[in-house]
Amino acid sequence: MIITIDGPAASGKSTVARSLAKKLNFYYLNTGLLYRAVAYLLINQCSYEQNALRNPDEADLNSLIDKTRLIYEYDQDKKEQVIFDGQDITSFLRTSFIDEAASIVSTNKIVRDLLLNVQRVAAQKFDLVVDGRDTGSVVFPEADIKIYLSASEKVRAERWREYQEKNGNIFSAEEARNIIDDRDKRDKEREVAPLVIPDDAIFVENSKLDIPETVEKVMEFMNKSRVI
Ligand code: DC
Repeated sequence: MIITIDGPAASGKSTVARSLAKKLNFYYLNTGLLYRAVAYLLINQCSYEQNALRNPDEADLNSLIDKTRLIYEYDQDKKEQVIFDGQDITSFLRTSFIDEAASIVSTNKIVRDLLLNVQRVAAQKFDLVVDGRDTGSVVFPEADIKIYLSASEKVRAERWREYQEKNGNIFSAEEARNIIDDRDKRDKEREVAPLVIPDDAIFVENSKLDIPETVEKVMEFMNKSRVI
């Protein structure tokens, strides 16, 4: 079974998806982490400047997105991890710098095509909860259940700002609004696989819900649709 959860930045997708996967004993695939890894590796292994991330060299991408080098792992206790050449790089992937870099690199068609394969291979082996921007619309159009999760831009900007603050990065409310606004625009306006609400998705608005309440709501929908 495949459950997709798509939505904009800071809509709570990853936390909800991780929690749902644990409850259902499914595998969790965090696709944003793959885009983050590609951005990180282009910068750190291939010395790309941020503005070169829009059009990375195909040879660099083929060398980095290679199933013997770039490995995604998930288990309920260790959460999700990205390993490159045997080294766990996960802790470098959630900085505000990589937020921006991943958002840029994800507009590139070659990157998206190569990661499409990586995502589909994971689904062959497991019952899956997967989250991202295009997992219901492009990666797994045949998914059993599709959720689209969102919250108001103000709420999402504040969540993002608080997350950054916990990690020692201080942003004003206005800076956070501008950053989230830019990421929304880039996600929705890119030519390849833009963020859309899949036709057959259940829309969950969680501005006023916390994570357990959001998970409960998603479970309710799934029960009603008799998929679990
Ligand atoms: O979900 P996230 O914030 O970790 O994702 C990081 C970036 O990756 C985000 O800016 C958009 C991109 N992304 C994407 O284009 N498609 C996906 N399925 C997942 C993420």
